[in-house]
Amino acid sequence: VKGGFPTFMEKEIHDQPKAVADTLLGRTDGHGNLVLDELRIDEAILRSVDKIIVIACGTAAYAGHVAKYAIEHWCRIPVEVELAHEFRYRDPVVNEKTLVVAISQSGETMDTIMAIRHAREQGAKVLAVVNTHGSTIARESDAVLYTHAGPEVAVASTKAFLAQITACYLLGLYLSQLRGNKYVDEVAGYLEELGKLPAKIQQVIDGEENVKEVARSMKDATSVLFLGRHVGYPVALEGALKLKELAYIHAEGFAAGELKHGPIALIDEGQPVFVIVPTPRRPTLHAKVVSNIQEVRARGARTLVIAEEGDEAVTEFADVVFRVPQTPTLMMPLVTVVPLQIFALALASAKGLDVDQPRNLAKSVTVE
Ligand code: M6R
Repeated sequence: VKGGFPTFMEKEIHDQPKAVADTLLGRTDGHGNLVLDELRIDEAILRSVDKIIVIACGTAAYAGHVAKYAIEHWCRIPVEVELAHEFRYRDPVVNEKTLVVAISQSGETMDTIMAIRHAREQGAKVLAVVNTHGSTIARESDAVLYTHAGPEVAVASTKAFLAQITACYLLGLYLSQLRGNKYVDEVAGYLEELGKLPAKIQQVIDGEENVKEVARSMKDATSVLFLGRHVGYPVALEGALKLKELAYIHAEGFAAGELKHGPIALIDEGQPVFVIVPTPRRPTLHAKVVSNIQEVRARGARTLVIAEEGDEAVTEFADVVFRVPQTPTLMMPLVTVVPLQIFALALASAKGLDVDQPRNLAKSVTVE
């Protein structure tokens, strides 16, 4: 069942190229158009949507956070991302023109189910991005866009996360195609780029030994920080969550721009800091993150940098560099998160911990 791997989590990390490929499969017409008839939601409703609210918990919420950047860019629709348990207990502004996108691997997360019910009561349409067929969330939503990651057994989500992000890209591109705004011409190009992602993810996985070696050497670390900007920010949050839940280490993700608003006070000699660097083909964004690496390095941090192949600007300030293939900015999370998953897995394994079943956690949280 573990496909020859020692743990489910390791198998599931290796399943990721297939999870992304399967989520893309059969959803285009071969001419650069998306075909999502399976949504079975009135196109007129999707055209009239004036706000999207993504609700989810944990890793699924970070997928939603990535989706916000992509959907807002492609569709020019405002997107809010909210933890389902917070959405449920305030008084959100929701009406018939709101599309609520609920993301869940299990489809059984009670916090998310309650938020869906709350949204529907107020007239919103709910579209679920779910991995488990026939689950409660799939049944209770107006429309379902399934991720095809296959069963995920390890408590820490990996392949479901990549499949969720992929499905959200499809949703964003589909809405753009349907609503025909100035970015509609980009749809075919992005679909083509998405098609290249499984091979790129595989390339990152093929380099896993390098990441594992660094992780093993850090098994006595007591705190690790993660910095990212733009779509690198949710990747930083996810990297920190993986390390907390698997290795029981204090880990925190920050938006790199927040550093000087407080978190930089945490940096002292030897503090490990991961930095997720955007492509140098976005020079302004890239330069900002490179200067964030310098800032923490100058205060003694040990910098572990995730950067694109060919990005030489980072080498001077990086103690360690993990390379990812060149990828369009919005799609970078699909490759940049992979070294962070492998890092958390290897560090927890080096500590002798059970990576498939970390303490105090359940695979699906079916109570509020
Ligand atoms: O099944 P769901 O996607 O609704 O679960 C949401 C979270 O409970 C889940 O992503 C959790 O954060 C994972 N353990 C993270 O690895």
